[in-house]
Amino acid sequence: MKKAKILGTGLSGLVGSRIVKLLADDFEFVNLDLKSGVDITNFDQVFDVFKDHQDAVGVIHLAAVTDVSRADRERDNKQGLVYKVNVAGTKNIAKAAGHFKKYLFHVSTDFVFDGRKKTPYTEEDQPNPIEWYGQTKLWAEEAVAKELDNYFIGRLAFPINADEPSGRQDFLHKVLSWLRNQEERSLFKDTIVTPTFIDDIAQVVKRAVNYQIVGLYHMTGSTYISPYNFARRAAKIFGFDDANITAGSFKAYLKIDPRPRQQYLAISNQKLESYLGFKMSSLDIALKMIKWQMGGI
Ligand SMILES: NC(=O)c1ccc[n+]([C@@H]2O[C@H](COP(=O)([O-])OP(=O)(O)OC[C@H]3O[C@@H](n4cnc5c(N)ncnc54)[C@H](OP(=O)(O)O)[C@@H]3O)[C@@H](O)[C@H]2O)c1
Repeated sequence: MKKAKILGTGLSGLVGSRIVKLLADDFEFVNLDLKSGVDITNFDQVFDVFKDHQDAVGVIHLAAVTDVSRADRERDNKQGLVYKVNVAGTKNIAKAAGHFKKYLFHVSTDFVFDGRKKTPYTEEDQPNPIEWYGQTKLWAEEAVAKELDNYFIGRLAFPINADEPSGRQDFLHKVLSWLRNQEERSLFKDTIVTPTFIDDIAQVVKRAVNYQIVGLYHMTGSTYISPYNFARRAAKIFGFDDANITAGSFKAYLKIDPRPRQQYLAISNQKLESYLGFKMSSLDIALKMIKWQMGGI
């Protein structure tokens, strides 16, 4: 049977490359990236590729400049690369999707929130970005909602998986490397993250595209945890000694490196579970799956 075609951006990235690998039997992906001659900041290039692939059933938009420190250096600079790719690039994708009447699956981030709320954020909570990356990603969400009716905005957080695409290591692989080499590391015990198994995101993409599900959803894991306890869970499941991982203080760190950082990012996935009927993995399940996928090391 002929596979449905999906146009995608950011498919060479940490998240996109894993999605393409996992959904290779379901979809034919057409990658819109710089190597294939598509800079998403250039509307004509985007328009032309949409025109060439009018048989596509939808678009998955992951491309972004995700370097939060770089974004901080470009704060308030709308001529900077971060704004251009994350906001202007997203507007171009949304405009082309609108013109060619394509369903758009847009990937956003938990960094649209300020991280001050101590209970889990839901889709009803008001975003309030405190740094430039989160601000540009919020403007990107708004551009999608303004241009289109037929869209899915999925907010992702702290992605982990078995792969290490070149130069793009997730936090789990950093932790495993520290543990393996017995490096001393101090990790925050007083911040909260919501680790998300990228393999679950692939299933969300598949359902959303196949059923053209519309709206704003948190597509995040089912465990809220500090980076310090994350590393200890990983050590336990992967069978490493965690003696060199120590508890660090977020508040103390901010005094050394004062760029804005979110402290509490517990992100609720209840809406996704109720509407898509899909249960996102707990951290323990995700880590066990990843260990198995990595050959049990
Ligand atoms: N990683 C996280 O911690 C995290 C957390 C929450 C949400 N997200 C969101 O998830 C999505 C994917 O993130 P990721 O970590 O997989 O990103 P990533 O590894 O940094 O990859 C970024 C992707 O964007 C592409 N890209 C950048 N500028 C482009 C341009 N001008 N034209 C076309 N393509 C361009 C890159 O292509 P090249 O390979 O050619 O450079 C690459 O494929 C992003 O929207 C991000 O905001 C990520």
